[in-house]
Order: sequence, then C-alpha cells, then structure tokens
Amino acid sequence: ENQEKDDYYGQVLKNASDLKTNACVTPAKPIPASIRQVLKKVHPEVDARYYGCGLVVPESLEGCRILDLGSGSGRDCYMLSQLVGENGHVTGIDMTDNQLEVARKHVDYHMKEFGYQKPNVNFVQGFIEALTEAGLEKSSFDVIISNCVVNLSPDKKRVLAEAYSVLKDGGELYFSDVYSSGRLTEEMKTHKVLWGECLGGALWWKDLLQLAEEVGFSPPRLVTAKFITIGNKELQDVLGDFKFVSATYRLFKVPKGNTEPRQVMYNGDIRGVEDSFEFDCQYTFKANEAVRVDGEVAAILTHSRFAGDFTFQQPGGPGEPCGVKPKVSGCFAILL
Ligand SMILES: C[S@@+](CC[C@H](N)C(=O)[O-])C[C@H]1O[C@@H](n2cnc3c(N)ncnc32)[C@H](O)[C@@H]1O
Repeated sequence: ENQEKDDYYGQVLKNASDLKTNACVTPAKPIPASIRQVLKKVHPEVDARYYGCGLVVPESLEGCRILDLGSGSGRDCYMLSQLVGENGHVTGIDMTDNQLEVARKHVDYHMKEFGYQKPNVNFVQGFIEALTEAGLEKSSFDVIISNCVVNLSPDKKRVLAEAYSVLKDGGELYFSDVYSSGRLTEEMKTHKVLWGECLGGALWWKDLLQLAEEVGFSPPRLVTAKFITIGNKELQDVLGDFKFVSATYRLFKVPKGNTEPRQVMYNGDIRGVEDSFEFDCQYTFKANEAVRVDGEVAAILTHSRFAGDFTFQQPGGPGEPCGVKPKVSGCFAILL
C-alpha cells in the first residue's frame, strides 16, 4: 500500500504547483523574518519539492538532535540544520526514493553555505511506523518534527508510539498536519487523490488527543490552526460538509500525574523569543512576568528542555500573588 502511495510524491507530483488543493501547502501562520532568512539559504530544487502545511520551528533548538518524520526533499531539515548549529544534528526519514535523492544530492551545498566543517544532517530511508527498524535509536532525539506527513500514514498510533520511543525523556514531538471535523468515511479514506492531497487520511482532531494519551504523551497543546479551502469542485463534492484545518500541535514525553497549577516566570533567555515566548495558542510568556499555568503545562515546562528558561514557584508556595490569572485566548474556538 505504501509503495503505491510513494508514487504520488515520487512520480505524480513534480513540484508543489501540481497539487490539486492547497491542503498540503497551507501555512498555519505567517513566517517570521528571521526564519525567512534561514529559508532563503535552502537550495531551489529542495524548495520546489516542499509539500508541507505548517512551519515546524519549535524554540530553543541549539545543539539539539532532531528527527523529521517524512522529510521529503529536506527543506525543513536544512532549515533546522541552521537552527541547531554545527553541534546539533538533524535526521530526516522518508519512504520515497526520489525525494530522498533530491535531499541527499544537496547536503554538501548546504554545509558549505552554512559554513559547517562536517555535515550535521543525514537522510534515512524508512517508514515512520518503524523508526527503530530503520536504525534509529530509542531515547536518542530531543525533538521530533513533521510537516504534513502523519495524515498519510495508515497507522497513526504506531507513528506516535515509535516517535515516543525514539524521543529522550523530556523530548518533544512538534508537528503540523491536516485534521478533519469528524471521522472520514471509507469512500473518502480510499479516494486516491484525496489521500495524496493530505485530506483523505486526515485524523479527526479529537482522535489525536485520544491516541496521544494512549501512547503516553502529554495532552497535545495546539500552537496554530488554519482552515483549508478545498477550491476544487469535484473533491469538494466527495467531502460534503467535512471541514479541514492545518494545525500544529506540541506533545511532550514528560511524567504524568502531577497536575497542580503553578506560577512560572520566563527568564527571557531563549534566542529569537527574548521578549515574548508563544508557547501555544493559550499561553504567551512575557519575559519576567509571573503567569499561573495549568498542571499540564507546568509538567511540560519543568521536565522539558525549557526547564532552565523558567523559574517555578512551589505549588501553593509563599508569595504567590492573588489575581495572577492564566492567559486564556479563544484559540480552541477556531478549531472545528
Ligand atoms: C506531503 S509530503 C511532505 C514532505 C515534507 N515534510 C515537506 O514538508 O516537504 C509527505 C512526505 O511523507 C512521506 N511519507 C508518507 N508516508 C510515509 C511513511 N509511512 N513513512 C515514511 N515516509 C512517508 C512521503 O514520501 C512524502 O515525502
């Protein structure tokens, strides 16, 4: 089954303009100027075969080991290669030979462009449902990203479970994907074009919450979401009233259980977000400002790579001012 699917990205599509809808290329958020600079250094051939649907740039990546699930022609890997620096590392995994070939062809070009002595990127052929089988080590990555790929997997729970297993404790899965407003029908799921356009395999967003919990991740935190316009009458007719969004979620491998809300203060030290760190669509941390966060976010901040970027007050500790309220925005309302 995967072999046939591999043809869509390997043979049918030559570049992003061959797609029939904008589902695979809908950015969920405008790209910040600093990242536009980083993207400018990516080779045009790699860029032309980019089929992502979101910007996958979590904060604080220097020195991190990153894995990109379904790395395609490698655009995000080459972007992240600059952000982790020469001492960090980025591995891309994909099942499609043609895409891997484009990605590998330009390793030297990029390393020269970034001024690195030795490559900090590599591309592995394999299935995202079988990461350890593809030679990736358990508990070896700080961050896993993925851009518009998980929807293409027939076994999403396995993808999440494998990602969980190769993440270090405290690690993060930060990924963009397409979600639907309900469980899709068999007709939609087996429609070849809908599948290739990243719509037929879209997960009902509530099912992601369920799967993440079953696998052991912290409850997914929504970062951004944007409606997808289908713009193709024939496909729209098959889809009926179902709606789709391109959304980015962050899931952490952190201990569960302690769900006490806590007061936290961001110290302003993360590069690029010194004044204001938009953790998700609910919490934005302004430097040196006390904020009360719910227990899930408190657990994430204390056990992840962000632990050193915050000061934490003990639950119910002395001096917690009254009136420090969680900053809740209505971001969940934009979801389906
Ligand atoms: C929509 S494209 C996105 C590619 C890339 N992330 C980007 O942003 O350009 C989907 C990619 O996922 C890969 N893919 C789909 N299912 C896969 C699987 N089960 N295992 C490995 N790769 C897969 C395809 O080969 C293709 O390169």
